[in-house]
Amino acid sequence: MKNFISIDDVDDPISMVEKVFEIKRAPLADTTIGRGKVLGLVFFNSSLRTRMSTTRAAYNLGMNVIVLNVSSDSWQLEFEDGAIMDQGAVEHVKEAVPVMTSYCDILGVRSFPGLENRDKDYQEEVLHSFVKNARCPVINLESSTLHPLQSLTDLFTIEERKQSEKPKVVLTWAPHPKSLPQSVANSFAQWMKKTDYDFTIVQPKGLELPEQFTRGAKIECHQEKALAGADFLYVKNWSSYHNYGAREDHPEWTITSEKLALTNSAKVMHCLPVRRNVVIADDVIDGANSIVVEQAENRLYAAQAVLKEILKNQQK
Ligand code: CP
Repeated sequence: MKNFISIDDVDDPISMVEKVFEIKRAPLADTTIGRGKVLGLVFFNSSLRTRMSTTRAAYNLGMNVIVLNVSSDSWQLEFEDGAIMDQGAVEHVKEAVPVMTSYCDILGVRSFPGLENRDKDYQEEVLHSFVKNARCPVINLESSTLHPLQSLTDLFTIEERKQSEKPKVVLTWAPHPKSLPQSVANSFAQWMKKTDYDFTIVQPKGLELPEQFTRGAKIECHQEKALAGADFLYVKNWSSYHNYGAREDHPEWTITSEKLALTNSAKVMHCLPVRRNVVIADDVIDGANSIVVEQAENRLYAAQAVLKEILKNQQK
């Protein structure tokens, strides 16, 4: 694996999941492969899980880590080719990224969408600028449209907990007080489509995700109908793709114990952070069906598997 930008960088998602199982069974089995190497983690946005799990994953492989919080610690970057830099941006990505890669052997970057200009967000300007200008592999730590480290984790978590060969997996939209990106949901749909699971996406009419990621999945608008018989319930808010970035208010879509009762005692998943009693009710997230904390723990093993594959490729 050279970069980890999307599922397209993975030859076979299920064999990648096998590698995550191997790491989880023995996280400290290979503490020297990254010796003398540095992982740079560049954050344009906040993070708890991605930052901590990827850092720990690097330590488990013997790497060192440098974290750069661009919004608070560093110079404001310019991305536009030919820009006349007489405004806020102090440094162009054409210098900044090669300089970063002179200090680091792998770079991770997190950059959320602005949610104002759909074409601009879906062109992934920041992520692609890093890939173009880096002299080392790049890992997507959540970009404008995708969150592949989360999705690998999610697929692993389902494989680890499934009770039947082809579980029914439902991705359900849920309310949120803010406009959120579509990235986690887009990415989850992309990865689920590589499995033979019975996969359904349910959202209020008008909040459909972009077809480029959902084509082939079952799409529903009736939440209760979709939840019937589900083995896994992946709960997530996203803002409108079609009325780009608009937040919609559908409080009746919160996941409650009454909704959970419609499922096949579904395991409840969420990428976190989650707004309690808005997205998911307390009794569901605190209940026996909730696997959100172990799902978050699995971020460590997924990140470590990705880093190890990149390090192995660098040894060739
Ligand atoms: N799920 C996830 O990416 O969490 P953070 O935003 O805290 O990294």
